[in-house]
Amino acid sequence: MSTILLTGGTGHLGRDLVPALTGAGHAVRLFARNAGQDSSMEWVLGDLATGDGVDEALRGVDTVIHAATLSPIARRGMRLVDFFSSPSSVDIDGTRHLLAAAVRRGVSHFIFVSIVGLEFSTLPYSLVKLAGEQLVRESSLPWSVVQATPFYYLLAQMLGGLKWLPVWPLPTSPTNPADTRDVANYLAEAVIDGKRGMRPQIGGPDTMPFSDFARQYRDAFGLNRLVLPLPISHKMSFKMGLVATDERLGERTWKAWLCEERMRAR
Ligand SMILES: NC(=O)c1ccc[n+]([C@@H]2O[C@H](COP(=O)([O-])OP(=O)(O)OC[C@H]3O[C@@H](n4cnc5c(N)ncnc54)[C@H](OP(=O)(O)O)[C@@H]3O)[C@@H](O)[C@H]2O)c1
Repeated sequence: MSTILLTGGTGHLGRDLVPALTGAGHAVRLFARNAGQDSSMEWVLGDLATGDGVDEALRGVDTVIHAATLSPIARRGMRLVDFFSSPSSVDIDGTRHLLAAAVRRGVSHFIFVSIVGLEFSTLPYSLVKLAGEQLVRESSLPWSVVQATPFYYLLAQMLGGLKWLPVWPLPTSPTNPADTRDVANYLAEAVIDGKRGMRPQIGGPDTMPFSDFARQYRDAFGLNRLVLPLPISHKMSFKMGLVATDERLGERTWKAWLCEERMRAR
């Protein structure tokens, strides 16, 4: 069993990673700016952007799972500014601080959570994230990179932002977003299987046109909206982050996820 330092443990994926890792018997230390609600966990406070607390957090750690990110789009939805810039303080500077400290502390496995298709996207966030991934790949540490398709919560957030529109013109590009619990379980496997390097990418079990994902969302929440299927080129789809992978598939479907969300909202 490993002693793991997890960054991003208070985020969407991180909250599912904690039970996946502790359930597998690992000792998990959470690196965060503010301690989360679970006082049974070991919290080490610090800030990836400045590097504060990073070195201390790595004392006695053999595996790092770096799942922290600073994505303004994921935090508050897409704005015009996101087409021009994205902060690099966490995904590049923070990754650099963490890697340097991990080398000093002799960490034996550095696992980086990344995104499918970053190399095709021109969004500033994707470029920043790709630069962070590149730092890991160039590191002298034994590393793994796990690339996942966009998470269901992000898709729901995006579609929720369209509610004010009576007609939704949406691309028909095939895509298979994933549930964070499936990605968390896959990452937990990566801690113990001994493999290093680029891992098979993970996506959700259903690959279908993006417009069909929107239809299922609309129907699940009983919205009276017209989804207008809009065929676009592969190049444009990839640029928009509409990607798919069949290398590794999660189990939880979009329909099942929507059903859970609807119950939660009641
Ligand atoms: N969202 C997607 O669709 C998607 C798809 C594929 C892969 N990924 C990758 O999966 C990982 C998790 O994504 P997510 O959507 O779960 O992210 P998220 O919900 O936005 O959570 C981000 C996490 O990073 C932490 N963080 C931000 N700035 C920090 C700083 N300066 N110092 C320390 N921690 C900081 C946040 O802590 P606070 O609580 O303090 O803010 C939070 O725990 C990321 O690597 C992301 O690139 C995401």
